[in-house]
Parts: sequence; C-alpha cells; structure tokens
Amino acid sequence: MTQLLEIAVVIPTFNEKANVPTLVAKLDQALAGRRWEAIFVDDDSPDGTAEAARELGRIDARVRVIHRIGRRGLSSACIEGMCATAAPVVAVIDGDLQHDETLLPKMLDLLQRDPDLDVVVGSRFVDGGGTGEWDRDRVAKSAFATKLSRKVLKGDLSDPMSGFFAIRTVHARRLAPELSAIGFKILLDLMTASDVPLRFAELPYTFRVRTEGESKLDHVVAMEYLIALYDRMFGRFVPVRFAMFSGIGVLGVGVHMGVLGLAMLAGAAFLLAQILGALAAMTFNFALNNALTYRDRRLKGFRQLLDGWVSFCVVCSVGLVANVGIAAFVHDFRDGGAAASALIGILVGAVWNYALSSKFVWG
Ligand code: GDD
Ligand code: MN
Repeated sequence: MTQLLEIAVVIPTFNEKANVPTLVAKLDQALAGRRWEAIFVDDDSPDGTAEAARELGRIDARVRVIHRIGRRGLSSACIEGMCATAAPVVAVIDGDLQHDETLLPKMLDLLQRDPDLDVVVGSRFVDGGGTGEWDRDRVAKSAFATKLSRKVLKGDLSDPMSGFFAIRTVHARRLAPELSAIGFKILLDLMTASDVPLRFAELPYTFRVRTEGESKLDHVVAMEYLIALYDRMFGRFVPVRFAMFSGIGVLGVGVHMGVLGLAMLAGAAFLLAQILGALAAMTFNFALNNALTYRDRRLKGFRQLLDGWVSFCVVCSVGLVANVGIAAFVHDFRDGGAAASALIGILVGAVWNYALSSKFVWG
C-alpha cells in the first residue's frame, strides 16, 4: 500500500549548521508515524549549513535542501520552500530550535480533521504560550510590531509575527504571487494577501532560548518590516520604491542647502557653491538609493559605483532641466501660482529621475 505524504516542514536557515542534526532528530521524534519531509531553504550560509543538511539527506530521503545562491531573505526562502512540495500541508519552523516542534502533529491533526480550517498558527500570546526568556527591550519591540500589524490585519490573530505555522499548500501556492517577500513577516504577509480571509486556529507555545548561533533580526529587518507594512497599506497607490526614492530626494535637498551654505560661508561665489551643493546632494542620494531603494540590485565595486554615479548625475541633471522647464511653463503660460508651479515641476522631475534611474542606473 502506498502511503501519501502528509506534511512538509520548511526550515529557512542562515548559519544554523550546529542546529541542523538536532532539529531533524526532533522532527523525527515529533512526527513519528506521520509521512513527512523536511525542506531546508538555505541562502548559501558561509558556515556550511546546506552541506550539513545534505549530509543527512543522503541517509534519509525525507530531508531535502534548496540551496540558494546570491539571494537573502527569510520570507522569500519560506515562499520558495512552500512551493517546492507535493504535500497537502506545509509548515514553517525556525531552524534554531526556538519553536516547539511537538506542536507539528497537532497542527496537522487540526487541518486534517477540519476542512474549514486553512492555517494553524503557533502563538506566544494565547493562554499557555509565552515569549520565554526575552528581555524587556525585545518584548517591547515585539509588542510594538504586533500593534502596527493590526493596521493591515483583519481578524484577531493573536500572534501575526509568529514565524511558526502550518497552512494548506494550495493556499500557499495560490497566494505566493501576491506576497511582497520582503523581510521576516511571512505569516502576516500570507494573512493579509488573501481577499477571502484565511480561517485560522491558534495553538500556544513558548519561545525557546537559542543555544547555538545567533539571531539575524537586526535594524535592516526592522526597516524591511516597515516597508512591507507600507506596501500593504499604500503600495497600490504609490510604490514603495518611488516613496523611498522621493523621501531620499527630500533629504538630498537638505544636504544641498547645507553644502551651499557652508561653501558660501567659506567665501565661494554663489554659482560655485550651488554646483558643489548639487554634486553633494546627488552623491548623497546615489549612495542612499544604492543602499536602500535598490538594495536588491546594489551596485558594488569601484567600476560599477563610478558608472552608476555618473549615470545618476546625468539622469538627475536632465531631471532638473525638466523640473525647471515645466515649472516655468506652468507659471508663465498657465498662470500657475509660484508654489503650485514649483511643486508640479518637482513632481515631474521626481518621476523622471525615478523612472530613468530604475532603468539606466539600477536596471
Ligand atoms: N534562508 C534564510 N535566509 N533564512 C534566514 C534568513 C535569511 O536571510 N534570516 C534568518 N533566517 C533563518 C534563521 O537561520 C532561523 O532559522 C530563522 O530564519 C529565524 O531567524 P532568527 O534570526 O533566529 O530570528 P529570530 O529568532 O530573531 O525571530 C524569530 O522570531 C520572531 C518572533 O519575534 C522569527 O521566527 C521571526 O519570524 C519571528 O517574527
Ligand atoms: Mn531565532
């Protein structure tokens, strides 16, 4: 008699080599008697996590590895793992043993028994769950992030920031194209992507202390969370990238003014000071856009940076001409007020700079 695969457990990993064998042993115990597979999705960890997982895969075909090169990201790793299984249910669990794997068979039971259920979430915030030995700082940050998530979440999921859940694979596959794949918040992303809300149940668990390796949750991840929230709320109207590009542009105006003022204080003529200010602002904007707005297509190395900087300056200079030209046109021939004409010029310049930078500088 053939036995059907019941559940795939997706494990995103980055530098978790020391945790791999323990986790697989724990899965083997927790899911005894069930038909399961484990899918490690590793982003080419320098510590050799992928190879450690492949080693286990050679003696146990239930252990599979997706080894991604040149890419990083918890959410995108989870999405790729979830789409890579034939099992009807897929769970996501951290690779560092902080999640309670003994919940997995219970999650599976709930989904198998109740056809009306789409997702089962491991929650730290229902009765019987907890955040374990977190310091006050982390508790406060987590509470703040959870509170923010309420802005995009319909329904009263207690722990939308949980990275531990099981979902019917059909839903994961159906929603995958809608996911922003930015940052850590894969569950929140799934729960807010669906037009018809996913029906969920929650099971309590206590977040364990990490004993091997270290957390990858840093400031960049926190920023990515804010970006993902923005994307869900306003992304349809003003794309994230354009918002970041424009925000950085506004900062650039400050840099321009600062350098202009300093140069004039130092005795430079206005024209020279103005040129220095513009160059400083463009360089500042180029660096910030390279680090943030286009971080997924970041230019690296002297040659790339130099080429990118030159094209960016050219694009922005033409943008400035367009800006001034349009503003003058609106002001002189359409009787626009000075402020309104200037704003229209700025908007046209911003869209121009953004569109051409996306294509020619970071294309
Ligand atoms: N493939 C891949 N790529 N895996 C990653 C990456 C990445 O860029 N970054 C982190 N991981 C893996 C880690 O190796 C680990 O297995 C898991 O994702 C969780 O990462 P941690 O760095 O340990 O995160 P954490 O413990 O601080 O945060 C956890 O708890 C949060 C709740 O407060 C995660 O589960 C979060 O999703 C969760 O929101
Ligand atoms: Mn962790």
